[in-house]
Amino acid sequence: MNPRTLETVRETRMGGQIRGNTFAAHYRIVTEGPAEAEAAKAQRRAPASGPAAAGATAAAAAATAGAGSSADAAAGGQQQQQQQQQRRRLVTFSNEFGFGGARAVFYEFDEAGRLMHETEHVLPGVDIAIIHDLLVTEHYYVLMVGPIKMQAAKFATQYLFGRCSIAECLVYEPAQRTRIMLFPRPGRPSGKVLPPRVLDADPCFVFHNVNGYEAEGGEVLVLDAVAWDSVDFEMGLYDKRSSKTDGFEGGGRTQLVRMTADLRSGRVAKRQLLRRTVEFPAIDARVTSRPHGVAWFIADAVDHAVLWAPAQSVVRVETDPALGLGPRAAASLASTQQQGQQQQGLEPPRKAAGGSTGAAAGTSAGVAVDEWFLGDRTFPGEPMFVPRPGSTREGDGWLLLGVHNAAGEGAEGKVHIFDAEALSRGPLATLHLPHRLPVSLHGAWTPEYMAPDPDAPRWQELGSARPM
Ligand SMILES: [Fe+2]
Repeated sequence: MNPRTLETVRETRMGGQIRGNTFAAHYRIVTEGPAEAEAAKAQRRAPASGPAAAGATAAAAAATAGAGSSADAAAGGQQQQQQQQQRRRLVTFSNEFGFGGARAVFYEFDEAGRLMHETEHVLPGVDIAIIHDLLVTEHYYVLMVGPIKMQAAKFATQYLFGRCSIAECLVYEPAQRTRIMLFPRPGRPSGKVLPPRVLDADPCFVFHNVNGYEAEGGEVLVLDAVAWDSVDFEMGLYDKRSSKTDGFEGGGRTQLVRMTADLRSGRVAKRQLLRRTVEFPAIDARVTSRPHGVAWFIADAVDHAVLWAPAQSVVRVETDPALGLGPRAAASLASTQQQGQQQQGLEPPRKAAGGSTGAAAGTSAGVAVDEWFLGDRTFPGEPMFVPRPGSTREGDGWLLLGVHNAAGEGAEGKVHIFDAEALSRGPLATLHLPHRLPVSLHGAWTPEYMAPDPDAPRWQELGSARPM
C-alpha cells in the first residue's frame, strides 16, 4: 500500500517470507534484551531481498530518524532509544481453519522486515474460532480461544444462501470453558525446550489483550486482557429501536481482567480489575512481554454495577505488576523487573495525577484510574501511546485519540493529544479536522507526515452515505 495515498499497490509475500493467506488482526512489538538479541542474531535466517524488505528497511530508518528528532532529548536517552529500536521485533500469527483442523503459524520479524522465526502449531480441539490478537511472553506465544461454536444448520440454510454473515453463524456458549493456548517461542536465551500447553479458564471471549509476562522463571504467567462476558455476533444489543436510554443491561460487557496461570498446577485464576467497561487497550510498547505498570483504554462514563454504555471517556489504569501473584512469584517478579529496567533503561510509571485516581468504586486494590470524560455525543476510537523521545520512564509520552462528534449535521471530528501521565488535566492540544470522523476502531501512528501535500491537505467530503 502507498502510505501517502492509501492506494493499493499489489499483494506481497515479503520476498517469499510468508506462506499463509491471512494475518491476525494484531501484532506485538517486543523489545529484546541484549542477550536475546545476540541469541537471535546467531540463529537468524539469511537476509531477504526484494522490494518488501527494502521498503521495510526504509520505513524502519525513517521511524528511527523521526522518533529521534526532538532537540531537547538527552543524548544518552537517544542512544539508548536507538539501541532499543534495533532490538525490536514484530511478532504476529496467522490462523487457518479447514477440515484437517485449525493451525496457527507464528512469525517474528526484525526491524528490517526479515523473518527471524516461523513456527507452526495445531490448535488442539479447534474447528473454527475467532482469534483476533495474541500475547507474547519471554517463552510463549499465547492465544485465548473463547467458547464459540459454529451453528452447522444456520451455516447450511442461511450463510450458504447469502442470508447471513459467517460471524452470525457463531454462537457463544457460556457453559463451556475458555482455553488458554501456550506455544513455545523458538530461540530464547534460556534454551528451554517447552511443550505446547492448553489451560482451561472461566469462560470469556477476548478480542484484545493488554500484555503478558512471566514470573518464577516462566512457571507463572500473568495475562491481562479485555474480556467480553458474552458475544452476540448478530449485534442485537445495539438495537436502535430500543427505547432504553439509561444504559445497556447484560449483553457483551467488556472488562479488564488479569489471568494468572500457574504452569505447575495448570490452574488459571481470573480476576476483574475494574468495574468500568473498557476496550481498546494501549500500553507503552517498550515493556511488551515484560511486567507493565500502566495501560490506557477507552471506557464508558457510567461506572455502574449493572448498567453500562458505549465509551465516552479515556482512562489511564495503573496496575501493580504483582497483583494476583503469591509471595514467591511476586518476589521473583521484583528481580525480573529490576533486570528489565536495567536492560530497557525504563523506570516504573509515574503515579497518577488528578482528582479521580484510585478511589473509583469497583476498582481492585493495587489499581488506580485517571480519567478524562470527552463529552456528550462524543465517542473515541483506539488510544495510541507515543513515547517521548529519549524518555526513560514507562508511560512517559503522549496519548493520541481520534473522536467521533455525533452532535449533528456538520459536526467535525477531532484528534486530542493528552499528556499520557495526566489525562484528567484534559488535552494538551486538539486538532480540529476539516471533516467528520466516523466512529473508528483501530488506529496507527507514525512520526512522518503521510498526507499528499503538507501545505494544502485536501479532503473530499462524500455527499451521501450508501444505505446498508
Ligand atoms: Fe482489534
